Amino acid sequence: MYYMIYISSAVKPMNYDQLTALLQQCRDNNQEHGVSGMLLYQNGTFMQMLEGEKQVVLDLYHDIKKDDRHTGFHTVLEGDIEERNFRDWSMGFFNMDKAGEFPKYKDYIKQNLVLSSFEAGSKDAYDFMVTFNKINE
Ligand SMILES: Cc1cc2nc3c(=O)[nH]c(=O)nc-3n(C[C@H](O)[C@H](O)[C@H](O)COP(=O)(O)O)c2cc1C
Repeated sequence: MYYMIYISSAVKPMNYDQLTALLQQCRDNNQEHGVSGMLLYQNGTFMQMLEGEKQVVLDLYHDIKKDDRHTGFHTVLEGDIEERNFRDWSMGFFNMDKAGEFPKYKDYIKQNLVLSSFEAGSKDAYDFMVTFNKINE
């Protein structure tokens, strides 16, 4: 199993309908290809983790990188994993701009946490996504 995490910026801020359409596309494709993961959105920034069979993840990553709905794409972390972290999700999603409406997340997302501040090589980004997902279990 292999995972990749990247950060990017939406070319235009995305509204609910656009995010929902994107997510539907992700879920349909990922389910078909055995990919799981999570997508976070915060004030125009995306952070996504993909996991699955290595070549499948690399190919998908390559396609996502070319998507003209986002820009400023950079890899944060990638590597081998023993097993999936997001086994229940072909693509989990959370709009962090709405975190205030969800008390259990609000406590975890420190008010000043800015996704775009995770730097390349940041193990914190990995831990953040995995822990964030566990809150939901
Ligand atoms: C932020 C972002 C995340 C995306 N994540 C995924 C994903 O997890 N899986 C996926 O298949 N496509 C994802 N896409 C869409 C792909 O870039 C691409 O549009 C899609 O794979 C093309 O699928 P299609 O050939 O079936 O239309 C993402 C796009 C963006 C902008």
